[in-house]
Parts: sequence; C-alpha cells; structure tokens
Amino acid sequence: MLTKNIEEALNGQLSRELYSAYLYLSMSAHSTNIGLKGFANWFMVQYHEEMFHAMKFYEYINLQGGKVALTALAQPPAEFESPLEMFTKTLEHERFITKSINGLMELAIAEKDHATQIFLQWYVTEQVEEESNDNEIIARLRIAGSDPQALMMLDRELAARMTTIPTEFSKGVQAAAAKGPAA
Ligand code: FEO
Repeated sequence: MLTKNIEEALNGQLSRELYSAYLYLSMSAHSTNIGLKGFANWFMVQYHEEMFHAMKFYEYINLQGGKVALTALAQPPAEFESPLEMFTKTLEHERFITKSINGLMELAIAEKDHATQIFLQWYVTEQVEEESNDNEIIARLRIAGSDPQALMMLDRELAARMTTIPTEFSKGVQAAAAKGPAA
C-alpha cells in the first residue's frame, strides 16, 4: 500500500527517469550525426538503462496498488558543442537525479514506508555507479583535450559498452540471441 504522497513522488520519479532516457537518446542521435559511433552506442545503452529504471518504478507502483500517472516530457537539448559538454551535462543531470532519489528516500523514511525504502535502495547504489562512470569519462575527455586520435580511441572503447539489464531491448540480450542458444 502507498500513501498519496508516496504515490505522487514515485510517479514524479518515473517521469524523471523517462526524461533521462529521452535526454540520452538525444545525445545518442547527436553523436551518430557527428560520426562518433562509440559515443552513440554508449548513450543508446544509457537510454535502455534509463527505460529499465523507469519501468522498475512503473512496476512497483502497480505492484503496490497505486496508479501510474504519466506526464508530458520536456524537449531534450539536441545540439552539443563537444563530447565533453555532453558528459558534463550528463553528470549534472545524474547529480540532479541523485538528489531526487535522496528526497524520495527521506519521504519514505518520514512516512515510515519500509517497502519503498527497500525498493529505493537499488537506486541509491545505482546513482553512485552512474556518477562514477560519468566522472571517469569526463577525466578521459579532459586528458584527450583536442587530440583527435585520443578522441577516436575513446570512441572505440565506448563502442564496446553493453547493457546488463534484463530486458528484450538490451543490446546484451540481442547479442546473446545472435549467437544462438548457449551450449
Ligand atoms: Fe536513472 Fe541515470 O539514473
């Protein structure tokens, strides 16, 4: 069972996760457009991860007898000056999401909603990983500076990113399916 406050807050976070997916899809499209296929892959994987984050909220609200309420999503930015700007904006957005998850957790504690606290713990851990990934890539981009070779090397590395989420739209699952059944 969810209180009205918690239900509204969970729906708010569901929208923010969907917007996160939308933002990274836009970054993936921009990366493709400027010829950085590895960056495009990284952001496409991130898009799928965010859809997974959103769907976990969707399922939890339903499971607890609440009502999912979808809202309009803001238009994401479509142009970025550089890969560094994309990742700086990504980190900024993830810090906002971290604050938002922390706010939800504080509300769940205040309302003595233990089930929601346990549900949110997964996101608390996930946000640490997300910010860490972004910080690492930002550091690499700063080292690369304006050296095109270093940028292309990083692009090749980011091309290898595969999602680990258990959904049919995950690249990992597609790649596994392409290989055929496991022996
Ligand atoms: Fe769903 Fe990137 O946090």
